[in-house]
Amino acid sequence: MIKKDYPLNENTLEEEKEIISLRPKSLSEYIGQDRIVETLKIAIEAALKRKEPLEHILFNGPPGLGKTTLAHIIANEMGTRIITSSGPALEKGGDLLGLLTHMERGDIFFIDEIHRIPKVVEEFLYPAMEDFAVDFIFDKGVHARTHRYRLEQFTLIGATTRAGLLSSPLRERFGITRDLDFYNEKDLAKIIKRSAKIINITIDEGGAYEIAKRARGTPRVANRLLKRVRDYAQVKADGVITKEVAIDALTLEGIDDFGLGDIDRRLLETIIINYKGGPVGIEALSATLQLESDVLIEVIEPYLLKTGFIIRTSQGRKATEKAYKHLHMNIKQKDKTPLF
Ligand SMILES: Nc1ncnc2c1ncn2[C@@H]1O[C@H](COP(=O)(O)OP(=O)(O)O)[C@@H](O)[C@H]1O
Ligand SMILES: [Mg+2]
Repeated sequence: MIKKDYPLNENTLEEEKEIISLRPKSLSEYIGQDRIVETLKIAIEAALKRKEPLEHILFNGPPGLGKTTLAHIIANEMGTRIITSSGPALEKGGDLLGLLTHMERGDIFFIDEIHRIPKVVEEFLYPAMEDFAVDFIFDKGVHARTHRYRLEQFTLIGATTRAGLLSSPLRERFGITRDLDFYNEKDLAKIIKRSAKIINITIDEGGAYEIAKRARGTPRVANRLLKRVRDYAQVKADGVITKEVAIDALTLEGIDDFGLGDIDRRLLETIIINYKGGPVGIEALSATLQLESDVLIEVIEPYLLKTGFIIRTSQGRKATEKAYKHLHMNIKQKDKTPLF
């Protein structure tokens, strides 16, 4: 099984370095997600006026849409520190306690992949979020004693690709919860033009839109494609990204005009050929494709569902007519029942 390293999921090391520069630093630089930005502006301004820390915030949505970026922006706008961790990194209650007890008033505590927090650690979070205190138990049995640590009032920002996996007590302790949605082409084109300026490559309107169209509604993908096209433009096309250059470069990368790559097409073909169009359960797909089901659910599927290449039914995933057409496959007469 391939674990967690599907390229859309996380930033590569090389990207990690460049990301610092591509990441917007303020809400006014943050493109798209207008309603979320508006909510945050109001919440931040109100908290600053009251000289109080912000409420706890939860961001939910597929990878690469800007959750981590927002957490950093919020700290920036509030003028506070940001301490970052992630669900899988918080293995024991003690890991969390160590971080919480060093928190200063107003600090942002960012927990990425918060749905992966172990249950025992999660239970420490409840009183920490609600009462700004944690009860820690030392020793076991008759020698057991608890000590209550008072914490400074901090703001927890959680990010998750699977809000449905969060327990309801945890979910309810967030004052603000927002779902990030895929970006439209116009906003992606803006992001691409902004990034192009930062990485110093000339791009015209047609070039920006062509990359936007193929970026799966995702800024991280847009930035990644931009870099591939930049390389191509510099080697093959006097350093300017036009529509034609973008098309040539991305076709070479195996990315089609819907932004689907090899893995997406393999998934659709598997449903259509191996499972006669579906419905097929996620575990069966995962086994056939040799990809972890989490990667399928969190990274690959959301865009295919959003764009209507597959649908999810109680029995599993089905390929839609759009998928057959896109892959130039025929729906056999007997399968030609309405797909919706
Ligand atoms: N609204 C936006 N405007 C400009 N760039 C963005 C925006 N959202 C995300 N990005 C870019 O996309 C990349 C991925 O965003 P990130 O916050 O790491 O996503 P997530 O945490 O949701 O996986 C960032 O490096 C940033 O450069
Ligand atoms: Mg992130």
